[in-house]
Amino acid sequence: MTETRYLIDPHRDFIESEGIPIVEDFGIDMLSLEVRPWARMAASGAYVLVKGRGDFLDTYVLEIPPGGETAPQRHLFEEVVYVLDGSGSTSIELPDGQVTSFEWGRRSLFALPLNARYRHFNGRGARPARLVATTNLPLVLKAFHDVEFVFDNDFVFPERFGQPAHFRGEGEFIPVRPGRHQWETNFVPDLGAFELQEWKARGAGGSNIMFVLANGTMHAHISEMPVGTYKKGHRHGADFHIFPVTGEGYSLLWYEGDEDFVRVDWEHGTVYAPPDMMFHQHFNVSPEPARYLAVAYGGLRYPFSEDKRRTFTGMDVSVKDGGRQIEYEDQDPRIHRLYVEELGRRGIEPCMDEVLASSRP
Ligand SMILES: [Fe+2]
Repeated sequence: MTETRYLIDPHRDFIESEGIPIVEDFGIDMLSLEVRPWARMAASGAYVLVKGRGDFLDTYVLEIPPGGETAPQRHLFEEVVYVLDGSGSTSIELPDGQVTSFEWGRRSLFALPLNARYRHFNGRGARPARLVATTNLPLVLKAFHDVEFVFDNDFVFPERFGQPAHFRGEGEFIPVRPGRHQWETNFVPDLGAFELQEWKARGAGGSNIMFVLANGTMHAHISEMPVGTYKKGHRHGADFHIFPVTGEGYSLLWYEGDEDFVRVDWEHGTVYAPPDMMFHQHFNVSPEPARYLAVAYGGLRYPFSEDKRRTFTGMDVSVKDGGRQIEYEDQDPRIHRLYVEELGRRGIEPCMDEVLASSRP
């Protein structure tokens, strides 16, 4: 019988052939997720496909046992790595053949330069190291549908490696304007400690920084909400993966016209992705500032899609003015009431009065 070739998904076919679990859900706890031996990486792993993630990105969890090291990898897809637990190091072969390496720990962020040969090591300690990688493998495999081309290709991209200091946690600050300030690097040792820039227009008296990582098209940014505050609701296209870093909170999600909200509770270890044009709003309910990392496809330097271009220009502009944000005075009153109740249960004082007063556009 001849196989009828239609509705093919080369990315799905590939990850199913890798022999590790494929977990699909709306929000996923990656710290408790079961991983299984992964021959290609010489470690353990699981693919994590968050519902609503869009067409371009996937994520996987990688666990390296104490004393373990991954098999060398190189590939024609971009990869942004966030360290969930443990510590270790990564070595990267530079275009001149030399090898550089850097040490990471819980809450580190780094990017693997496109098609660079690399290995991860868990050289110290008695604990496994657990990483989560967000990649654009779906885009690349769907475009070329040839695994050998993607994983066994000698082309070198020298301009993706940046400065040697970029692997030591140094970088360049690129000031633009609030919400668009950038930090260009390949490695951020601790996302919890990184200095952020004020961004009043997104609400919550919050702050953020946009990253340019390994001169790639992957987007990453971190945002922080002070204690007792929440951000304004907004919407955009799919593929922003949210990784909480510090504190805990919840997000409400809804489509325009919906009666009710979908709620996701989060803390470090969770991942979820607001689906295409679904409004969403983030709330800090912890006694410390809540910070989250967002990774997407198409960054501020290379937006890749028209939707990202619009997001980066309209993300702090009211929907009433053609933007993508709901101002506090236009939001459903239930949103604020629910937040005050949540904080009351935890004995935390809301600090929204000042934020609401100062947010009038
Ligand atoms: Fe968002």
